[in-house]
Amino acid sequence: MSNRKRIKITIDGKEIETYEGTLIIKAAEDAGIYIPRLCYHEALKPDGNCRMCFVEIEGLRKPVPSCLTPAKEGMVIRTDTDALKKHRSSILEMILTTHPMDCPICDQAGECALQDYYFQYDLKESRWREKKEKKPKRVHWGKNLIYDAARCIICKRCVRFLDEITGTQELGVFERGIHSYIGLFDGNRIENDYSGNLVDICPVGAITDLDFRFKSRVWFLNRTPSICPFCARGCNIEIHTNTKNPFSSQRVYRIKPRKNLEVNKWWICDEGRYSYEFIDSDRIEYPMARGKKTSWDSVRQEILKIVGKDVRLYVSAWMSNEELTYWMQIAKTFDWKLSLVGKPRGKGDEILKLPDKNPNRKGAEILGIREEIGHEEVAVVFHFLPVSLERHKIKIGIFTNKFEGMDKFDIIIPAAVFAEKEGSWTNFQGKVQNFQKALEPIGEAKSEGEIGEFLANTLGLDLQWEIGKYREEFEKELRKWNG
Ligand code: SF4
Ligand code: SF4
Ligand code: FES
Repeated sequence: MSNRKRIKITIDGKEIETYEGTLIIKAAEDAGIYIPRLCYHEALKPDGNCRMCFVEIEGLRKPVPSCLTPAKEGMVIRTDTDALKKHRSSILEMILTTHPMDCPICDQAGECALQDYYFQYDLKESRWREKKEKKPKRVHWGKNLIYDAARCIICKRCVRFLDEITGTQELGVFERGIHSYIGLFDGNRIENDYSGNLVDICPVGAITDLDFRFKSRVWFLNRTPSICPFCARGCNIEIHTNTKNPFSSQRVYRIKPRKNLEVNKWWICDEGRYSYEFIDSDRIEYPMARGKKTSWDSVRQEILKIVGKDVRLYVSAWMSNEELTYWMQIAKTFDWKLSLVGKPRGKGDEILKLPDKNPNRKGAEILGIREEIGHEEVAVVFHFLPVSLERHKIKIGIFTNKFEGMDKFDIIIPAAVFAEKEGSWTNFQGKVQNFQKALEPIGEAKSEGEIGEFLANTLGLDLQWEIGKYREEFEKELRKWNG
């Protein structure tokens, strides 16, 4: 990028600087000027098939597609003249001759480019008096994808995504003109690990997600910025929740990617997208002793039994930087040993997925916490079981979800999942990324910071959980680690 020539162009009277050859649609967007588009997507090679992005350039007799036209020194561009508005209105009128009036039952309503542009540029009664073209609806493309050919505007974003990003090429355009539709090549289904991104890039409701279909109108959802916990990349996500649905106890409705060009670009994998059930299902909601519900008072009594004994904490690679730093401080004060536990390694790929299935092994590494097995009398275990617990006589667990072998623990303290608290993780690149609280902790669950404070207070130690303070402590360690 840096050896490309810097140039000046004018868009809608505003002089801007860009690199020579940058597409006008992108140069405008970088300068805060949005040009309408349907087929263009920043991540994909431009195709120029929808004609919504046309702009006028001084000196040219006809408008040109801004998604195909590179910027040149001194260009004077207009994006919003009356003629262009009329042109966009005509494009929309043409699309709507075949597009069904499905908005009241379409999952995309509320986040649909066609619906938004219709309100912005068209907003008139249809002049189309013929019958609409009938096309297949509810075609299962595989896994969670449902295709509705009647809603499809043949922008080919989906085809290009499968060509250029996953390289799996399951889809193509079939038939011609008004009869055209997107279809699977013979024998194909879309089973690749990034299939859910097709729902996000489809600008209309032609690809909907079986996992979300008809469960909530999008305007009822709260959107909280967060980080995916399922591997060390730490893809940036939004958690979409609705806690006010009187017909369902479901709290999380879907996970969507957040653009971060340095970490996950525009995408997330299907594991990160669809594995959110653990937030609402099979949770440990109250303290347990030997597999049975118990009180916080019994937890206190159990904790008092470890006074004067050798203790090992098995902190987890799913805990936040701040929580790890805080628990290190607790361990140091009582002279306890500290080890790391986490999910075992799995498969990675060339796109995003990494073999390390933990969000914060790097944070633990920066703090110098290693994986090792001890044989102290007491084990305090977070989230995952270490290889062997046999040697520890007293076992205290801090877990989020139920698991086989829970009854072997003298006490289990219910912990909040990442969506129920705030904090940060350090990804494999060493980037510290924040996640925010999307939900209240379920039942009597507490964050590991609050649990730490409860345990410290029970043992007579006045060491408060202050997230900001432990963030600063962690950042000191990070600076040392970065040299
Ligand atoms: S299914 Fe969606 S993304 Fe694919 S061509 Fe149709 S409208 Fe475009
Ligand atoms: S690549 Fe890793 S961090 Fe990204 S969505 Fe998938 S599991 Fe989550
Ligand atoms: S966005 Fe440029 S032609 Fe479709």
